[in-house]
Amino acid sequence: MSLKAIVFDAYGTIFDVLSIATLGDRLFPGKGVELSALWRVKQVDYARIRTLSDRYESFSKVTRDALTYTLHAMDLAPDEATVEALMAEYDRLAVFEDSADALLALKASGLPLAILSNGDPPMLEAVVSNNRLGGVFDHLLSVESVGRFKTAPEAYELGPKAFGCAVDEILFVSSNGWDACGAAWYGYCSFWVNRAGMPLEQLGVSPAATGRDMHDVVGYVRARIASR
Ligand code: LAC
Repeated sequence: MSLKAIVFDAYGTIFDVLSIATLGDRLFPGKGVELSALWRVKQVDYARIRTLSDRYESFSKVTRDALTYTLHAMDLAPDEATVEALMAEYDRLAVFEDSADALLALKASGLPLAILSNGDPPMLEAVVSNNRLGGVFDHLLSVESVGRFKTAPEAYELGPKAFGCAVDEILFVSSNGWDACGAAWYGYCSFWVNRAGMPLEQLGVSPAATGRDMHDVVGYVRARIASR
């Protein structure tokens, strides 16, 4: 089966959600890493809970609510200016260096590329354009159009719909183990970028391939193209 397109998760895969720790440290010295990590955990948690209970809200609201929770949990007074400053940083998340390199190499392979993310369209447009990646993607697919977050099938369905091909002809790339498994469940050829060296999620499904960073995705795609 030849690959027809590549779809990427955004947060944690292309953009570094933990890069927010720098501003976190400036606002709350020594607490940036813990703040950014707990914020991310709660963000993913709230997205799942809302999907399970059919209570969709925009990812920007989910992200803000997760931040407010995190500030309370860490006994850091969540005043409006702090929340706004940290939320604004989400539009300026740093792109991982290996991701920036890999995206250019993959673009040169001729396969169309897309992001498929829980993020709202304005969040995705902002972080893509602030990292000067505007010309790289054929589609920025947001789950907002289906009102359910990953790992709902309706969210993953956006990929094959956008490219008009079979799901197993699309490579789905995520550094979030649960997302790589969710995509494999849906039928994608799923690639897990295991940046943190974590064990495989025990969900009874495995991604088709695994690597340590996005350079490994380039190697995998080149090998698939060469074996056609
Ligand atoms: C995304 C998050 C879940 O971009 O990483 O969809």
